[in-house]
Amino acid sequence: MKNEKVLILGACGQIGVELTYALRNVYGNNNVVATDIQEEHHLLKGTGPFYHLNVMDSVGILAMIKKENITQVYLLAALLSATGEKDPKKAWDINMQSLLQVLDIAVQEKNVRVYWPSSIAVFGSTTPREHTPQQTIVEPRTVYGISKYAGELWCQYYRQRWGLDVRSLRYPGLISWKGEPGGGTTDYAVDIYYEALQHGRYTCFLSEDTYLPMMYMDDAIRGTIELMEAPLDKVRSSMAYNIGAMSFSPKEIAASIQYHIPEFKIDYAPDFRQQIADGWPKSIDDSAARSDWGWQHNFDLNRMSNDMLKHLKDKLELAV
Ligand SMILES: NC(=O)c1ccc[n+]([C@@H]2O[C@H](COP(=O)([O-])OP(=O)(O)OC[C@H]3O[C@@H](n4cnc5c(N)ncnc54)[C@H](O)[C@@H]3O)[C@@H](O)[C@H]2O)c1
Repeated sequence: MKNEKVLILGACGQIGVELTYALRNVYGNNNVVATDIQEEHHLLKGTGPFYHLNVMDSVGILAMIKKENITQVYLLAALLSATGEKDPKKAWDINMQSLLQVLDIAVQEKNVRVYWPSSIAVFGSTTPREHTPQQTIVEPRTVYGISKYAGELWCQYYRQRWGLDVRSLRYPGLISWKGEPGGGTTDYAVDIYYEALQHGRYTCFLSEDTYLPMMYMDDAIRGTIELMEAPLDKVRSSMAYNIGAMSFSPKEIAASIQYHIPEFKIDYAPDFRQQIADGWPKSIDDSAARSDWGWQHNFDLNRMSNDMLKHLKDKLELAV
């Protein structure tokens, strides 16, 4: 077992639940302390320590880091793109204040490595949309994207000014069957599987040809841990890394579901999230992550649909 003590802030969300599981497998159950503002997620119960902790409570975070001798902090708590647009100032406050507090504490405590996720939402409508490069025009249009890009710059600043070991990935839309999605624009690609199994039809809030970069959660979790375990000299980018896996449209994910459930029907009723998606890349150039620290994805659309439907059928106790 590796000698690390990990603190997860925002452990009960879509990423947090699976990341907590995976980190407990790597470092041991008692060495991964899960925290969140909400109740412990039912899938985490009995798997290791859990505490209520508000990410805005810097005193509480510092006390937890000292008490548990924490060596790695994963800051996952945030308001996501669609939720953020409903209350932009709140999203800015939560996303930025939590990050700056954690960065300060990590500098103060020394020997604390920080992981903080960024997102493809940093890109905007002026960014090249196909194979979006690691370094390119960055003019985010949502408060979420603005907070993520500002956060990346702060991480770079702390790394260069104080030598803090802080690492980050620009996740594409993440798809998983364990945790529930938390209000992002790519959530349709999770909801569609539930609706296909439960009702045989789905009304999509994006139009049929909206291509977005996506990734299966298994790949995202493995990539996150691999980035955190990579030797520091391999982590050459002090901004968040682009990582990609697949790019598909609602029409294509529907077709991959129809392969398993031929009677499944989809229709389209684009809402405000269409405008958000239209400002994001269609596909990502992640060659820097691949060459610097060896990023590779395992899941394409068909393999993911196969796995999602298998697990969700068990979860929903449905036979198709
Ligand atoms: N899910 C995706 O597709 C995706 C894509 C790109 C980036 N990200 C980033 O990854 C991180 C985690 O995303 P997620 O999808 O798991 O989000 P989520 O909304 O599912 O989970 C966030 C968690 O943070 C908790 N939280 C919110 N406010 C808090 C507070 N004040 N104190 C403590 N906990 C609080 C919530 O209760 C929730 O459990 C976020 O930074 C998000 O921006 C996610």
